[in-house]
Amino acid sequence: MRLTVVGSINLDLVAVASHLPGPGETVSGATLSRHPGGKGANQALAAARLGAEVCLAGRVGDDVMADEALALLEEFGVDLSGVITDKAAPTGVALIAVDPAGENQIVVAPGANHEVTLEDLPARIDAPLIVQLELPVATVEAAVGRSTGFVCANLAPAAPVSDQLLRRADLIVVNETEAAFYGDLLHHGGGWVAITRGARGAALYRRGGVIAVAEPPAVEAVDATGAGDAFVGAITVALLEGMSGEAALRFACAAGALAATRAGAQPSLPSRADVEAILAGQP
Ligand code: RIB
Ligand code: NA
Repeated sequence: MRLTVVGSINLDLVAVASHLPGPGETVSGATLSRHPGGKGANQALAAARLGAEVCLAGRVGDDVMADEALALLEEFGVDLSGVITDKAAPTGVALIAVDPAGENQIVVAPGANHEVTLEDLPARIDAPLIVQLELPVATVEAAVGRSTGFVCANLAPAAPVSDQLLRRADLIVVNETEAAFYGDLLHHGGGWVAITRGARGAALYRRGGVIAVAEPPAVEAVDATGAGDAFVGAITVALLEGMSGEAALRFACAAGALAATRAGAQPSLPSRADVEAILAGQP
């Protein structure tokens, strides 16, 4: 299965700390690590790890962070011919704090991601498409407008989008905060709407009606970063493979739960074998 992802590419600077800071607070004693991230790149890798042939379009800076940000995508064979090196803006960076329960706090400096324009995109996108909202909304809407196939819109982070995009998407994925932001608008198009609820699993709707509810397999969360992106990649691959809504939701919840058991975003994205093994062990 071929897939196109138009989206963000970041280097994640992750501090694992005793607790998340409040406003004005300094939390010392953290340990730092660097991982490839960015919702677009994470979702591209998530789908590739589950067997899809993925092409990613986006921008990175002309700097050393770009090599780090693209390393795992390269390793797992994601087609990066649509990734442009921006001569002026730096590679996107996410500053992430993670606490012992695996909860996180993220501040993103988009850099080159905010320079992705309509001209960077193919004139026509025939393969199924996944988009998120870490690029300029006009670029995301242009990508969706040029798509002739299945469109998955992960409306994260929440931002105003056109009614056209909401209606065009075959699948919308949001978390509970984003679902509250969009409200009823999510259900106007008649496609699938998946709402993720962290450790409580996810629900799948069509035209406002519940199709399926899934609880994730019981896992020990270490770092929830990347769990939502694992879910997006997995539910898209599963629905495109023809799984039922219920089976696709279970598959995606398992992928998300596995991503939460490991540190970082991209290093935590599970292989197909990992997802199938955990599903086989579920009651
Ligand atoms: O969804 C997780 C991602 O959001 C992180 O990898 C970080 O880069 C932010 O964009
Ligand atoms: Na993770």
